Amino acid sequence: MPSAAPYIVALTSLKGGVGKSTLAVNLAGALSVRGKTALIDADAAIQTSRGWLERGSLPIIPLLEGQELPAGLRYLVVDTEGRPAVGDMSDLTRSANVVLVPTAPNSVEVEATARLLGQLAQAGGNMEKVRVVITKAPPVGSVGQAARDELRAAGFQVCETVIRRYTAHERAHEQGTLVKDAVDPRSENAWSDILGLTVEVC
Ligand SMILES: Nc1ncnc2c1ncn2[C@@H]1O[C@H](COP(=O)(O)OP(=O)(O)O)[C@@H](O)[C@H]1O
Ligand SMILES: [Mg+2]
Repeated sequence: MPSAAPYIVALTSLKGGVGKSTLAVNLAGALSVRGKTALIDADAAIQTSRGWLERGSLPIIPLLEGQELPAGLRYLVVDTEGRPAVGDMSDLTRSANVVLVPTAPNSVEVEATARLLGQLAQAGGNMEKVRVVITKAPPVGSVGQAARDELRAAGFQVCETVIRRYTAHERAHEQGTLVKDAVDPRSENAWSDILGLTVEVC
């Protein structure tokens, strides 16, 4: 019997440094508990998530772009290059099941994301699959929630979960672990955000 196609989660953003690779690795780690999970690092220039997997021993299969998918794959996470062309993003909305667009909760990024998504809609992207996720939000106060609500008011789908800014995420990258296993006092808080997002998108 041929195995079913994997559920594909792609991450993309107009700017670099918003937390795409951080989310890609941790989301893949959370999904790997449910079934065989692979991660494609399509950011050829930087290769953050590939390097992360190489440093650690995570239960995530690293794949190259275009490489044949292993049999029985249940989830495929795609960490794309920053500053995508609108046409490439539009293609992603066809090939992936969900396209996550991480955005930090400041006016520069919120405006840039709103512009990007506006262009994507005009280019015929399947907006049903696109979800903004607010990242690097201050753990105290409601700046993240406010940015989420502003983008929702502008008509975009935005994940309920706000990913908070914790040093644990940086530690996890350094240590080649998932954030839940990072040696850091806030690793559990950071992981609870990842689990919330995982439930929402898959
Ligand atoms: N939620 C977060 N809290 C704290 N630091 C974060 C968070 N997400 C990402 N970072 C840090 O921000 C930097 C860029 O993150 P990265 O995931 O590589 O972004 P991108 O893939 O979008 O370029 C890294 O130093 C990373 O550790
Ligand atoms: Mg990256």
